[in-house]
Amino acid sequence: MEKATIDSLEQFVGKEVTLEGWLYHSRSSGKIQFLILRDGTGLCQCIVEKGQVSNELFEQLKHLGQESSLAVTGTVRADDRSVGGYELAVTDANVVSPATDYPITPKSHGVDFLLRHRHLHFRSQRQWCIGKVRHTVIDAIRRFFNDNGFTLIDTPIFTTIVGEDQQSLFEVDYFGTPLHLTQTGQLYLESAAMSFGKVYCFGPTFRAERSKTRRHLTEFWMVEPEVAFVDLGGLLELAENFVSFVVAQVLQNNKGELESLGADVAALEKIKPPFYRLTYTEAVNILTGQKTTDFLAGQLQELKSQKEHVAGRIAQLEEEQKGQIKQWKRDKNATELIELRSELAEIETKIENNPKHAKLAAEFRWGKDLGGSDETIISQMHDKPVFVTHYPKQAKAFYMKTNRDNQDVVLNFDCLAPEGFGEIIGGSVREDDHDRLLARIKEQGLNPETYGWYLDLRKYGSVPHGGFGLGVERTVAWITAEKHIRQCIPFPRMMDKVYI
Ligand code: 4AD
Ligand code: MG
Repeated sequence: MEKATIDSLEQFVGKEVTLEGWLYHSRSSGKIQFLILRDGTGLCQCIVEKGQVSNELFEQLKHLGQESSLAVTGTVRADDRSVGGYELAVTDANVVSPATDYPITPKSHGVDFLLRHRHLHFRSQRQWCIGKVRHTVIDAIRRFFNDNGFTLIDTPIFTTIVGEDQQSLFEVDYFGTPLHLTQTGQLYLESAAMSFGKVYCFGPTFRAERSKTRRHLTEFWMVEPEVAFVDLGGLLELAENFVSFVVAQVLQNNKGELESLGADVAALEKIKPPFYRLTYTEAVNILTGQKTTDFLAGQLQELKSQKEHVAGRIAQLEEEQKGQIKQWKRDKNATELIELRSELAEIETKIENNPKHAKLAAEFRWGKDLGGSDETIISQMHDKPVFVTHYPKQAKAFYMKTNRDNQDVVLNFDCLAPEGFGEIIGGSVREDDHDRLLARIKEQGLNPETYGWYLDLRKYGSVPHGGFGLGVERTVAWITAEKHIRQCIPFPRMMDKVYI
């Protein structure tokens, strides 16, 4: 019998094939069983009719537990109503390994439970879809830089110098010498840019940030391009072309996954250059101005009516549950209730936060770095990513080049993803003047001796150069409309918890 995968069934309509996979879900109505099989490439409904297989097999399949592994043979039929568009009329099956009491049932589980069972939760449709999108994002990242003249440079994970800030270093005891895990490959990459012109590094990054937000991991993946002979305008163009390419690749390869995740495909289709450009000073004026006050007031109204709607639906379902209803309907309602209650809790948190965010925005003073809620507000006001440029020098890293026309600001940018997802890219032109860089290193209390090699780059043929870093998990979270970036990396490491 010819083996097939679920994603290739269209080639086998009318033919008999064998699928190998796991039992995702099953239901039985007397003489007929509906088995949903998943094989890593998709889902397929397999129909087992009494009389078409031996009685013994029919009984075995009827009692087969969720996530049992099996091979199923049958004839492929096209059926629009069926998941994936094809189904299998089963003629034979072979149970590879039966499973009983699989801990993750179709009912909703708490986040903590699912993270503790990450090794199994991978098999859920949601995690599978996110994993597929992440794969495309990573593939697109490499493709973009490889096809645009960049050379891949692998920067070290054990590092000797502070790349971003001293507070978020993970120290390691390296045979008695303290080293730390990389926060960024950038500084090493700058040296490579002086050899290759256009380079990028791509790997895991570590930050001991004491942030428990939905946007922070302690281990995350970052891609960083670095370019010799570039200015801020050139970097913005590179970043918008790059992000647009990544989104386009996901749209091309993963539309089904995006739809099943509930992502906003129409909004993603708008992600094309040019992105919006604001200076930091303009952003501050927006935050402290009437536009933000009105925007947040409108949002509060919207949230309140959402709350009313969800609470109404909950009350209706609770009423139904009290009455005489069929068991399947009761289970369905129970699942919906769990989801609605968590949605309600989320809306309530947003209602609670709205005035706090309004206050933070109104009281924002020039000079501070933008906070998470400020970024959220700016990005929610836009339907495409926004570049915020020219931040105050004191709020940013030592290596950023000061604007020669206004020494209070640096030639940097953050890219904020739309609809409230916040910063996905941070980048800048680098200080290329030896003495100014040395002064900045000293000002920030860093040891100039350890930066000897980095300063050398400004002694021997220094050129204007710059680059940026894009966080993979934040990008995947934005594209898939996943609220928390912990779902966008296979095995998340958070400040307060490392599960498995
Ligand atoms: O803005 P960041 O700190 O920039 C740098 O590290 C520069 N050295 C990059 C460069 O210019 N070559 O970080 C870049 C991006 C952020 O925009 C965000 O997407 C991601 O890395 N990021 C995090 N993602 C998850 N968890 C965290 N704790 C993150 N910190 C940064
Ligand atoms: Mg940043």
